[in-house]
Amino acid sequence: MSLTVLGIETSCDETAAAVVRVGGADRVRVLSNVILSQIADHAPFGGVVPEIAARAHVETIDAVVAKALTDAGLTLSDIDAVAATAGPGLVGGVMVGLAFAKAVALARDLPLIAVNHLEGHALSARLAQDIAYPFLLLLVSGGHCQLLDVAGVGACKRLGTTIDDAAGEAFDKIGAALGLAYPGGPALERLAQGGDPSRFTLPRALAGREGCDFSFSGLKTAAARIAERLTDDESRRDLAAAVQGAIARQLVERTARAMAVYPRGPDGQAPRFVVAGGVAANAVVRTALRALCEAVGFTFAAPPLVYCTDNAAMIALAGAERLAVGLTDGLDAPARPRWPLDEAAARLQPSHIPGRKGAKA
Ligand code: KG4
Ligand code: ZN
Repeated sequence: MSLTVLGIETSCDETAAAVVRVGGADRVRVLSNVILSQIADHAPFGGVVPEIAARAHVETIDAVVAKALTDAGLTLSDIDAVAATAGPGLVGGVMVGLAFAKAVALARDLPLIAVNHLEGHALSARLAQDIAYPFLLLLVSGGHCQLLDVAGVGACKRLGTTIDDAAGEAFDKIGAALGLAYPGGPALERLAQGGDPSRFTLPRALAGREGCDFSFSGLKTAAARIAERLTDDESRRDLAAAVQGAIARQLVERTARAMAVYPRGPDGQAPRFVVAGGVAANAVVRTALRALCEAVGFTFAAPPLVYCTDNAAMIALAGAERLAVGLTDGLDAPARPRWPLDEAAARLQPSHIPGRKGAKA
């Protein structure tokens, strides 16, 4: 039997809708994947402005959902359930997508699935590739930097997280200090091409330290200070290369620690590693993590670029996998600005200290 799910994503600056079918002839089939970026609306402000984002979602959500259905060649009568991001994220935007999904669910008498955006990222690699549970996940985006043991939907255990900034946030802020437009990550990757990563020495936070947490604020401050006094393009290129290398190195070092304690499969199979989230689009980061996997005997997977950054196909997939095991939500499901995947781990210090993290934490 197949399940066809409409997914909606509005937690940051992309208004996105997708239709995904699971089961039947194909394991997973993405029938449509519409992403309307608001980057141009936010660029003049150097970052995402929550009120502008919420308003833009309201203005475009109807058309984006309609296009997702048209692209899939379907109508709402062909949909088995509707899934929407219910957090964590900018709550004004989350409310828009979730309320829209509730309205569709109520009007068409369909099940609603309130999806955790992080669970969407966690499952995103499964959109294009059959990756069995469990796997070790590095979720590395603008709002998050976490290592998770993903055993299935609703079964994620956090092994480590950032104690200050997310890696994507570091890319964005250092990008801004280098005069690059928002979002800084892709722009910094382009700038770094041909740069000498060894010219500038940057701090190595947590190097050799116990555990699998991350820290990027020292790197961010140090790089921003250096950026202020640079006057020529070659130096800016070298600094960008050094920053990218330093971020990749920390991701590798901390992931290696998680791998050291991660169990092998019961049949002695090689354990699986997945990297997902916007920063997984970075080629240097991917290459470094792939090399780590080869060195320590993990299989490596990363979603295609279009599923790394925010999208609704991953939300539809999480919705479909939840629906398949009977996990649906009531129309009173709340929009949640904060919503850790692993509530127990989130209660522990030093992570998830209210007010200390990015907008999407
Ligand atoms: O997953 P995502 O779209 O949104 C969040 O849930 O945060 O990730 C966006 C983040 C931004 O910080 C952006 O700068 C970063 O991912 N990013 C990159 C690259 N592409 C996107 N960072 C480094 N290199 C890239 N190529
Ligand atoms: Zn995201």
